[in-house]
Amino acid sequence: MIENNVFFGVDYYPEHWPRDRWDTDAILMKEAGFDAVRMGEFSWAKMEPELNHFCFEWLDDAISILKSYGLKVVLGTPTAAPPAWIIEGNPEILPVNELGIRMGFGGRHHVCMSNKSYREHIIRFVNEIAEHYRDNDAVIGWQIDNELGNSHKELCMCENCQSGFQEWLKNKYKTIQKLNESYGTVFWSQTYSDFHQIPAPKVTPNSHNPSLLLDWKRFCSDLIIDFQQMQIDIIRSICPDKFITHNFMGFYDKSDYFNLAKNLDFVSHDQYPSGFWLEDPAVTPSSELAANLDFIEGLKDKPFWILEQQAGPTGWEIMGKTPRPGQLRLWTAQSIAHGADAVFYFRWRTCLFGTEQYWHGILPHSGIPGRRYDEIKKTISELHPVMQKIRGVKNRSDVAILFSYDQNWAFQIQPHHPDLNYTKQLIKYYAYFYERNIPVDFISYESDFSEYRLLIAPLQFLSDEDIALKFKTYVKNGGNLIMTMRTGVKDENNVCFSESQLPGPFSELLGIEILDYDCFLKLSVQVTIGDKILGKAQKWCDIINLNFAKAIAFYDEEFYKGTPAVTVNAYGKGDAYYIGFEPDERLMNGIMDIISTNCHIEPILKSQKGVEIVQRVAADGKCYFALNHSDKAVRIMPNTEWKRILGSDVLDPYDIAVFYESIK
Ligand code: GLA
Ligand code: ZN
Repeated sequence: MIENNVFFGVDYYPEHWPRDRWDTDAILMKEAGFDAVRMGEFSWAKMEPELNHFCFEWLDDAISILKSYGLKVVLGTPTAAPPAWIIEGNPEILPVNELGIRMGFGGRHHVCMSNKSYREHIIRFVNEIAEHYRDNDAVIGWQIDNELGNSHKELCMCENCQSGFQEWLKNKYKTIQKLNESYGTVFWSQTYSDFHQIPAPKVTPNSHNPSLLLDWKRFCSDLIIDFQQMQIDIIRSICPDKFITHNFMGFYDKSDYFNLAKNLDFVSHDQYPSGFWLEDPAVTPSSELAANLDFIEGLKDKPFWILEQQAGPTGWEIMGKTPRPGQLRLWTAQSIAHGADAVFYFRWRTCLFGTEQYWHGILPHSGIPGRRYDEIKKTISELHPVMQKIRGVKNRSDVAILFSYDQNWAFQIQPHHPDLNYTKQLIKYYAYFYERNIPVDFISYESDFSEYRLLIAPLQFLSDEDIALKFKTYVKNGGNLIMTMRTGVKDENNVCFSESQLPGPFSELLGIEILDYDCFLKLSVQVTIGDKILGKAQKWCDIINLNFAKAIAFYDEEFYKGTPAVTVNAYGKGDAYYIGFEPDERLMNGIMDIISTNCHIEPILKSQKGVEIVQRVAADGKCYFALNHSDKAVRIMPNTEWKRILGSDVLDPYDIAVFYESIK
């Protein structure tokens, strides 16, 4: 982490307000306790109103006002909104959708990331802005673009992107014969005689080849990473002393975030507990909010920044619920507890015009500070000292969940069950631990599995011998592994294995074979342990034969009544568990209680439902956060060794408390 004294910041758009308001804004920001602002990420037209006519004076002016009040600046490259004059000169920058229709100007993210003219404009512009601010010590860092991949159902499918895809495939498969074999293009006469025949997956009368679809998603991910890298290279060479980050979006799926994170100094994240419009429930469950934060922390295995923390009611055309008194403070504390080293709120003042007139900032339209300003000011004064203790240090958990973009994409292409969702299944496992105040890390295939006592690797649909070996080594050396339904089904090209029974390369490790299965359309099946019904298997059922494994639970209905539903296999020094379905909440609790006990997984502290207890390690101790997500007052029973630094043992609705334990 590049050291600086930024803990709290706010997203500020001086270009939306008259010049004579800027001082007032800076004074109010300083009074609230802010250290920094993020700005510039959508103001290309104002910075360069025509080709090579650069107007940074207004921005210099705003930065110098902010600086005079001690505020630092993070600048965004404004490449997510190329101005109308660029589009007029190069209309082919506008993206083509899956129907083959070129989309129009008038929103943002209206771009084809492979377009050469667009990239040339970016190279020109980013060089210029980086040179302009290289020696400005108020500018401490850069945000590349904004939420890369956002706004697109699919990335652009223009001719140019299609050729890029064909090149990418040529690089991967070398010969067209190899691609044909890998995809199984003999099916439906899809055999290609040259790479130039391969389509971007536009809408067809029915479905595309699943292997092609998976490669398209990988290609789009690589394109986003390459697009970001182009800007990182320029900024790093001109401004080596300033940090470079990007604002990620939790489990958003257009690029492999582990790879997108690699060349950034640290990742940042945008956290909106009320989400977008028309979402149900109105506020995302707190377990899911926590999962997003832990996932982001896992990307680089270190703390991160929040560059957009919700500051008011969200909404574009339709509006969400206003945050209840205390919720902004609670959500800020949750972000910090799960690894944020700095929190910036989106946005300073609610805009009077444009698409986001109702996406509320800290200040209302009038600019007069009110309830939200007061709450955030209080939050900053309370949490600033806490953050000083914990900054830069990441928690290490005993439990990890493996996240894989390839698996996620493969299940988007073929969900099997209409409601099966890879990320949601992972979050269900996460939620079990969350509800018990047991910390969880999210990791990738590249992580060191051996650091964890329990590893949960759901839906390992695609695999190969190398991946299987990594799992085997982990368990053999004493690790405990949970695998779930639809594991070991396909190779990395999204083609089914044929050499062995399911679960393919994992059969030996799991000590089972799956000879039959059942997709639960409008069906769920009871599962028992001993003679007790534990709950229901949902969405899918693997009908399991035991080789070396032992059964822990059994199906209690259908023609497979009495056959194993959950198994465990002792392998080397560890245990490999298999769950042949997606459990409902009761069943999840029943199964995971058994496994957690076997693995000696302990909670940080027991608490009532709705109260989250999180720990963050500090250099010389640990901070514990108690977060009441419920609308009722609750009592907590903190550990006697914990020293209270904030709050009390009775938490009001949405209230927080913080404790500290020194390492003796
Ligand atoms: C995203 C963007 C912001 C803003 C908010 C609200 O997180 O990064 O620019 O648009 O959503 O819509
Ligand atoms: Zn394109």
